[in-house]
Amino acid sequence: MKANGKRVVSRLEEIYQCGKKEDGTFTRMAFSPEDVKGRKLFTSWAQKLGMTCRIDEAGNLICRMAGQDDSLPAILMGSHLDTVPDGGKYDGVLGCVGGLEVCETFKEEGYVPKHPIEVIVFTDEEGFRFGKGLTGSSGICGQNPEVSDSELDIYGEERGKVMQSYGITSANMLKAAKDPESVHCFIELHVEQGARLYKTHTSVGVVSSIAGVNRYDVTVTGEANHAGSTAMADRKDALVAAAGFINNIPEVTTEYGNEFTVATVGTIKVTPHSVNVIPGTCTFSLEIRDQDAKVMTLIEQKLQASLGDICKKYEVSYTFVPTSFHEPAPMSKWVKGSIEQAVKELGIDYSVIPSGAFHDSLIMTSVFPTGMIFVPSEKGISHSRYEFTEDGDIENGCNVLLKTVLNVDNMEKPC
Ligand code: GLV
Ligand code: MN
Ligand code: MN
Repeated sequence: MKANGKRVVSRLEEIYQCGKKEDGTFTRMAFSPEDVKGRKLFTSWAQKLGMTCRIDEAGNLICRMAGQDDSLPAILMGSHLDTVPDGGKYDGVLGCVGGLEVCETFKEEGYVPKHPIEVIVFTDEEGFRFGKGLTGSSGICGQNPEVSDSELDIYGEERGKVMQSYGITSANMLKAAKDPESVHCFIELHVEQGARLYKTHTSVGVVSSIAGVNRYDVTVTGEANHAGSTAMADRKDALVAAAGFINNIPEVTTEYGNEFTVATVGTIKVTPHSVNVIPGTCTFSLEIRDQDAKVMTLIEQKLQASLGDICKKYEVSYTFVPTSFHEPAPMSKWVKGSIEQAVKELGIDYSVIPSGAFHDSLIMTSVFPTGMIFVPSEKGISHSRYEFTEDGDIENGCNVLLKTVLNVDNMEKPC
């Protein structure tokens, strides 16, 4: 049995086109009309295969194919269709379309798996709109996504209003929780989004673990004052202090971290935001990621100490507020082993690698046996319109997914 690589590639393109915006970019921001259009198209493909499709209380689109014994726990596949601004064709979409391809291949071959199969399109994985992602997978895992209908997105729109496009409300999200007994395992196919596979010319990555992600909101408070008449020596410029701290991040991270440690300031705002006023406040996001929770704590301490020293130097104050924590997460030995077995059976070259990007699997692995399959990202580029994966690599990834599903379908779930 073989996946149809051409069909997958053409579907990736079709979903991409759903994000076409008037300014010429392609974005499917969670809950946006473009995202809803992509989900509708995906639903139409699944329905043509006779799958039943529903949206759960956390907004996850769940497409189900019956198994020989529909009372058995389900094999889950999937990922997300929402994108970052001006994102690419592959991030998330590949896991959804790849999951559907497994079902379509089964149907064409007249193969009915023992277990039922569900392909899940998770809600708001990227999280850039409200500053926190993994929303749908949190709901499915029974973990509070800590959202409220009154919170505002980056455009000032209320969550409750924008989520009407999915027909959901914040208060009900935990009702989406799946009983762990109802799930055989979860397998997510994804592009690597880094350059390990590309640089080593390796076709497939079997993911060992996913980096943890801690986020903080930092505000530096100085004194807004006249930009023309305030001498340099008399200023308390919040942005200058923040810039000094941000400039230190690479050094601190390199000194106390390892090859997987990364720290990023991805958003920044100053007030009053005027060309002729010294910034009185500077607020920015800080994110720390690593494969080791202890290293993440150490980096947090060292960065906070550096921020304290710099603020003292510039006579400004600061607040450092944690906003979300996700521990590094190892993949299930059983599912990882089944993926490795599948790659070997297919005679495809592979390596076992960690993931620096987060995925719905980061949450799913805490409740369900979970594994991830990576395919190469050209030059390691992702979260960008220039994201690219060779058609042959996409086909390989889908075949590994297909073979893994066949393997786990014939296995007992370990206790
Ligand atoms: C999600 O794609 C992330 O790693 O930020
Ligand atoms: Mn993704
Ligand atoms: Mn992403």
